[in-house]
Amino acid sequence: MNQYLQDVIKGLKSEDKYLLSRYFYNEEGDRLFQEIMELDEYYLTRAEKEIFQIHAADICAEFPSNNYRIAELGAGDGTKTRYLLEAALKAKSKFEYFPIDISPNVLNILKAKLEKALPSLKIKGLAQEYFEALSTLAQLSDIPLVVLFLGSNIGNFRRDNVDTFIAKLSDSLRPGDLFLLGVDKKKDPNRILAAYNDSRGITAAFNFNSLKRINADLGGNFDLQKFSYYNNYDPHSGESRSYLISKEEQEVFIKAANQSFHFEAHEAIHTETSRKYGASDLQKLASRHGFKIKREFSDEQKLFRNQIWEKI
Ligand SMILES: C[S@@+](CC[C@H](N)C(=O)[O-])C[C@H]1O[C@@H](n2cnc3c(N)ncnc32)[C@H](O)[C@@H]1O
Repeated sequence: MNQYLQDVIKGLKSEDKYLLSRYFYNEEGDRLFQEIMELDEYYLTRAEKEIFQIHAADICAEFPSNNYRIAELGAGDGTKTRYLLEAALKAKSKFEYFPIDISPNVLNILKAKLEKALPSLKIKGLAQEYFEALSTLAQLSDIPLVVLFLGSNIGNFRRDNVDTFIAKLSDSLRPGDLFLLGVDKKKDPNRILAAYNDSRGITAAFNFNSLKRINADLGGNFDLQKFSYYNNYDPHSGESRSYLISKEEQEVFIKAANQSFHFEAHEAIHTETSRKYGASDLQKLASRHGFKIKREFSDEQKLFRNQIWEKI
């Protein structure tokens, strides 16, 4: 049984049903996420882009001065990373760029864009899960590593499982290696709610894509009309949470699983977490896992931050 099918069955069988957000990203999901990044309400991408447009040279000045690797976890289409890579190339230090993404489709988009914009860049895409790819890199020669994790991808981990992720990341790095983190800040809850409830319904369509993908790839018979999209924000945990809610009692059959899944009326499937962080949340997280925060950059409106962590 493939991993996708196993994860779908596990999620739909659990008491609080869920579907992992990493499976949003097929061709349609990649396209919808590119639309989300352009939305008026979705301030995250614009804020991080502004930080790179202004501070890329200062950020790259912290990178190793010679022979190193840049690995980007969940690179997406690389629109913002371009500014950093351009600055790193200008600094004339020798490096190779390894974008990592489980969507081979988005890696092709990224490669086409970057090969055109930065012809001298040495780029090797890895269509793998984050840690599979980091262990692939660890098997290459030992040279300093800079890991990028942008776009507040870290927000996809809930408060109770982000430590597992950062601990594994810390184990994959050597002292002196760097981690450049892009993370959304805690802010006015209404601003956050608007970002995940856009007026054009693109975020809702993005979430519905997880059901469409099950229908297309696993022979599911989800009737999308029988679900609605719902998002909320908890200012204590900083978690914005998205759900698809079953409008009525129903059975959904998934052919590849050869079984049905029962939904009560108003039962929810959790589809995504987008956690926001305060300064102290990040400080504690870094120090719990053997990192020192070296530098921090923010946009003018103080919506988003990029931090450079050094593995001690
Ligand atoms: C929200 S998008 C952000 C893309 C990019 N970091 C940015 O800032 O624009 C998340 C990306 O991470 C990838 N992704 C999600 N979970 C992943 C995982 N566990 N391993 C590898 N890639 C993953 C998705 O395919 C998607 O392209």
